[in-house]
Amino acid sequence: MQHDANAPVVTIDGPGGSGKGTLSSLVAAELGWHLLDSGALYRIVAAMARRQAIDLTDEKSLVAMIPNLQIAFDGDRVDVNGDDLSDEIRTGEAGVAASQVAALPEVRDSILTLQKSFQRAPGLVADGRDMGTVVFPQAATKIFLDASAEVRANRRYKQLKNKGLSVNLRDLLEQIQERDARDRGRAVAPLKPAADALIIDSTQMTIEEVLQMIMAEVSKG
Ligand code: DC
Repeated sequence: MQHDANAPVVTIDGPGGSGKGTLSSLVAAELGWHLLDSGALYRIVAAMARRQAIDLTDEKSLVAMIPNLQIAFDGDRVDVNGDDLSDEIRTGEAGVAASQVAALPEVRDSILTLQKSFQRAPGLVADGRDMGTVVFPQAATKIFLDASAEVRANRRYKQLKNKGLSVNLRDLLEQIQERDARDRGRAVAPLKPAADALIIDSTQMTIEEVLQMIMAEVSKG
């Protein structure tokens, strides 16, 4: 499938555990569009760095590694250079490591072209932190999904538990707060709503309610 700079884009940004991932998949399925899980790309960079014993602060080595990553998404599964990294990139520690590499400007730069290449017909739903502000600023529909840190930690807890992973709620809350502070405070592409984004606080909402709100916004174009 070819990159198409005219294909419509819906951006869904927000902090970890806000429900972005689930909602992005649902919106993409409902529209029959492609999906970009940009957080997975940062998680992959961090996981591969760990495997190759590259320090998470060694920007030059990280940037040199990125063009050699052959990434294949298939639903929830992700293969990198022939290895299944699906579970390895989903742990809380992998999220914290991803947020560390994501604070490095040259790492963000080398992932930018890769992210843009996901824009394909008939359309793209892009899930991340800076989809509406930096990667797809021309997107017709921009959503910023938020929720309290406690509710987000609880949602992550249930998600990971359901996958059979052993987790601790207090650790998850700490990880979420640590990541929030770094993602919102970094100099390059910080987590913040685009000026023209619809901000949805999902703390008290069901997934179905949020989905309806997003679909209504998409239909306005
Ligand atoms: O959405 P996620 O939890 O999989 O993202 C993991 C980390 O990657 C997150 O803490 C910050 C970073 N990230 C980013 O900086 N920009 C994006 N567009 C997506 C994720």
